Amino acid sequence: MNQDELKALVGRAALAHVPAGSIIGVGTGSTVNCFIDALATQPGLVRGAVSSSVKSTERLKAHGIPVLEAAEVESLPVYIDGADEIDHAGCMIKGGGAALTREKIVADLAQRFICIADESKLVATLGRFPLPVEVIPMAAAQLTRRFAAIGGQARLREGVTTDNGQLILDVSGLSITDPLALETEINQWPGVVTVGLFARHRAAACLLGTRDGVRTLTF
Ligand code: A5P
Repeated sequence: MNQDELKALVGRAALAHVPAGSIIGVGTGSTVNCFIDALATQPGLVRGAVSSSVKSTERLKAHGIPVLEAAEVESLPVYIDGADEIDHAGCMIKGGGAALTREKIVADLAQRFICIADESKLVATLGRFPLPVEVIPMAAAQLTRRFAAIGGQARLREGVTTDNGQLILDVSGLSITDPLALETEINQWPGVVTVGLFARHRAAACLLGTRDGVRTLTF
């Protein structure tokens, strides 16, 4: 199986984690696209979805799945999303698709985060994938210097404005041995909208697509 087939496999497997008749949280990315397409094969399985990006909203609506605003729900039973990296504790790097802020907002509404990913995303230590950070433009230069002070090289993602009208810095060179501490630290820096470390909102389970089938990791 190639990577696309592994993504399709876990997209379908995630259906088993969707409570019938519920409103669910839906993430962003190519793996989630497979999940949305799988969801469309089961009309009526969900009452609706809270989406983490304009792209996912468009795809859900194209399939006739109702999309609700985050303000319309108080809680979601489950949030299903991909990751750029996930470690063996369920902590993740996210934001490769620039949707990290809305992803964290929707994840915060959910009781369980189910990560769907192909096996290439599982790592011992987070940080080989450059860490996306959504920032206010005014602060981009001083945040670049702050990252340099902790050993990270921040690069502005060229030509990208987020759904929230902000910029993305991609920070390479970090070996993230304590994701929760680093997330907490970066969250304090003025001008940071969201850091793409999901340790406070780590996954409860990961459906990992492997050549031998779906491996379920629980954390
Ligand atoms: C979107 O901003 C990201 O957090 C995605 O969840 C992540 O990049 C995974 O995307 P793929 O499923 O396309 O690999």
